[in-house]
Amino acid sequence: MTTVTDALKARISIRAFLDRPVPEGLVREILDAAKFAPSGGNLQPWKVHVVMDAARDRIVAAVKKSLAENPFANEFEIAVYPEGLWEPFRSRRFEVGEQMYALVGIPREDKAARLAWFQRNFDFFGAPVGLFFSIDRRFDRGQWAHLGMFMQTIALLAAERGLATCMQECWAARAKTVASLLDLPETEMLYCGMALGYADPDAAVNRLRTARAPLEEFVRFLR
Ligand SMILES: Cc1cc2nc3c(=O)[nH]c(=O)nc-3n(C[C@H](O)[C@H](O)[C@H](O)COP(=O)(O)O)c2cc1C
Repeated sequence: MTTVTDALKARISIRAFLDRPVPEGLVREILDAAKFAPSGGNLQPWKVHVVMDAARDRIVAAVKKSLAENPFANEFEIAVYPEGLWEPFRSRRFEVGEQMYALVGIPREDKAARLAWFQRNFDFFGAPVGLFFSIDRRFDRGQWAHLGMFMQTIALLAAERGLATCMQECWAARAKTVASLLDLPETEMLYCGMALGYADPDAAVNRLRTARAPLEEFVRFLR
C-alpha cells in the first residue's frame, strides 16, 4: 500500500518524461481527489487549466516562438525570489542548480548550454500533460498559500499513482502568451505550471536528490 509518507518521498521534481500518454481519466481522478485540500474559509481559491494533445502543443510552440523572438522578456508579475537573496537561502538555491547541471554535464561557464537546458522547461520536459495554476488577482497571501497546498496535494496524488511531476514557476516568465492561449480573464493571474507524466528512468537529471535542512534549523519546540 502506498502511504502518504511513501508518496511524499517518491515525489521529486522530474525533468525528463517518457513519451507515454496519461489518460484524461487519470488526470480527472487526481484533480477530483485534490479538491479535498484545505483552504481558509473553504474558499477553494484555485483554478487549474489542463493542457494536453493539441492544446499542449499550441502553447509549447507559441512560447518557443516568443523565446526565439525575445529570449530575455520577463513577464513575471511577482518575483520568483526576493532581490538580494540572503543566507542560507542563497546557497540552497545555488546548490540545487549546480547539482542539476553537474548531472547533465554542463559547466557553469557554458551559459548558452545552461540556458538551452533550462528552456526544456517550456516543453514541460517532454511530459504529455501540463497543468497551469491561476488565481484571482484580488486574493492575498493567505489564498496563495492555499493554492500551494492544492498543488502539493496534486503532486502527491500523482506520485501515489506512479506519475511524476515538476512544478514550474518559470512559465510565468511568459505569462501574457500563456494567459492569452488559455483565454484567461483579466482577473486571473497565472502563477505556476506543472509537468505531469511518466518519469524517464534512464535520464541522468532524474537522479537529482535535493537536500533538506535538519529539523533544528526550522523548528522550535516551546513548552
Ligand atoms: C512553486 C514551485 C515552482 C517551481 N518552479 C520550477 C521551475 O520553473 N523549473 C524547475 O525545473 N523546477 C521548479 N521547481 C522545482 C524546485 O526546484 C524543487 O522543488 C526543489 O529544488 C526541491 O526538489 P524536489 O522537488 O526534487 O524535492 C519549482 C518548485 C516549486 C515548489
